[in-house]
Formats: sequence, C-alpha cells, structure tokens
Amino acid sequence: MSAKTIAVLTSGGDAPGMNAAIRAVVRSGITSGLRVMGVRRGYNGLLTGDVFEMNLRSVSDIIHRGGTMLYTARSPEFNTPEGVQKAADQCRRLGIDGVVVIGGDGSFRGARDLTGAGIPCIGIPGTIDNDIASSEYTIGFDTAMNTAVQMIDRLRDTTESHDRCSVVEVMGRRCGDLALQTGIAVGATTILVPEVPYDFQKDIIERMQFTQKTGKKHFIIIVAEGVGHVAELADSIEKQTRIETRATVLGHVQRGGSPTLRDRVVASEMGFHAVQLLSEGKSNRVVVMQKSEIIDLDITEALQMTRTFDVELYKIAHKISI
Ligand code: F6P
Repeated sequence: MSAKTIAVLTSGGDAPGMNAAIRAVVRSGITSGLRVMGVRRGYNGLLTGDVFEMNLRSVSDIIHRGGTMLYTARSPEFNTPEGVQKAADQCRRLGIDGVVVIGGDGSFRGARDLTGAGIPCIGIPGTIDNDIASSEYTIGFDTAMNTAVQMIDRLRDTTESHDRCSVVEVMGRRCGDLALQTGIAVGATTILVPEVPYDFQKDIIERMQFTQKTGKKHFIIIVAEGVGHVAELADSIEKQTRIETRATVLGHVQRGGSPTLRDRVVASEMGFHAVQLLSEGKSNRVVVMQKSEIIDLDITEALQMTRTFDVELYKIAHKISI
C-alpha cells in the first residue's frame, strides 16, 4: 500500500543540508498529493507525539540554514523493542503511514526496526562524517570540510608567522574522510586517521625533520577525532623537535553553518527520491549515492556493508605534502 500521510524526522548529530532535505520531502510530498507531518527531536517526537502538519510554506527560507528546523536527538527509549512498538502505535494513532528518517547508521537501524513494526520507513544519509558504508556521500560532509578548511587556513596564518606546528583535531570518530580531504586541502604534513595505524617517529617527526631541511618552518598535522590525543601529541612533537607546537580542536563549529551548494543539491535530490519510494509503496529502503548517482538499497543490506577507506588518496596526500 502506498503512503497517504508521511512524516519526516532528523535524528542523531545534525548536519548542514538537513533542512534542504526536509524541504524537498515536504514540497515533493505535498505536490504529489500526500499529507506531510514534521516530527520534532527525532524518534523522541514520535514517542511523545510531538508532531505537526506541514505545508508548502513551513519550509520557506530554510534551504540556506544549517542545523535542522525539526531539531534532532538520540533516543535511548526508542532503542528498545518497547520503544519501537510505542512509536509504531503512535504513528498509527496519528495516521502516519510512512516515515522519512534523515540521519546516520544509528538512525537507519531505528528506521529498519520501525518498518519491522509495520510503519514503512525510508532513510536519507545525513552526517558530516561521511561514514555510511552504503553511500559514497552523506549530506553535510562538503559543508563540514569547507568549514574545516576555512578554520585551518586561519590557523595557518598564525602558525606560519610564529614558525610553529599546529596539531588540529577534526571530527570523525570512526571515519577519517573529513581528516583526509581537509588534510589534502590545507597541505598537512601528516594526516592521522582511525583506519590507518601510524608510527609517531616515522610518520610525524621524521617527516617534519625532512621538510625542515628543505626550508620548511611551519607545519600542520591533521588528526581525526577517532585518533584523538592532540594535546599529548603536540607536547611530544614540541619535546622532540623543539618547534613550538599548539593543539586545536575544531569541534562542533564543523557541524554548523550555511550548507554548500553540493549539500543543498544532494539533499534536495535525496529528499525527492525518498518521497517517490513511499509513494510507490516501497519501504525499508535507504537513499544513497553510488558512482555519483542517487539510487536506493534495502536498509538491512545497507547496514551490513563495510566502509572502505581511500588508502590510495591517503598515500597521495603524504607524497605531495612534503
Ligand atoms: O555527527 C557526527 C559527529 O559530529 C561525529 O563526528 C562526532 O564524533 C559526534 O557526532 C559528536 O557527537 P555529539 O554532538 O553528541 O557530541
């Protein structure tokens, strides 16, 4: 059965571009003759019934805004069989017969469980980490990278003026994509990611000393959050090289700000695709990008995929930033 009333929610960490996805879901839903409900604060909103009907104007002036107009949350209660059942019962009570979930893998597990409890769900990948195995791109990644690059360019000015080394932590608990791309773009001497083990002497100290001999006097080391310990690393680097070293954690600034063109466009396409799937009576699908195309996969299969890190690009980064 195809959905007549659909709901949209954002769940997990927010990401720039989520608003563009919400806008696409609402507008394409309504123009296809569906009723569209907004759910506040992720699955929590389904549990508490914090749901409101949206119209074409509910999503005006949000395409350029970071964050999510629906707010977001991680919901421990929903992560239990009783929670899923309660959310499904609420959907039935509210007449919701399809849900679009914008978030990461954790949110997709919720979407799979809610589908299992009788409410068809479609996932859209939204997270700045780009850590969803089934999709080569996640909404928010491009904006976060560009924000990180802007911040590190500023850091570079002062690092260079003082002949210092800056050790910079960028987000990414399990995934080094943000660190890798950002590291290339800022010309980092070394990039540390959770996917590749590193040797402190060989990968940091020796590289710095080698480039020092060629005349280099300031250094940027990019560290993914999943590797961490930037303060300790900075201390050890300073002790060994006698180069003044500072640690900077970029943190949540990377999650905010106006989404880039890429995030707005991909989010719009994915939102449209998700509504089409629900209109066609499909469920338990996740909208993904593969080979630059927007396609959809079974959520359960998508969740079983394993991510591959771009080791070749990692090698290139270290070959040219010397
Ligand atoms: O959304 C992904 C992410 O930003 C990760 O990079 C980071 O590890 C995590 O979320 C931080 O979560 P929180 O906002 O709960 O501190």
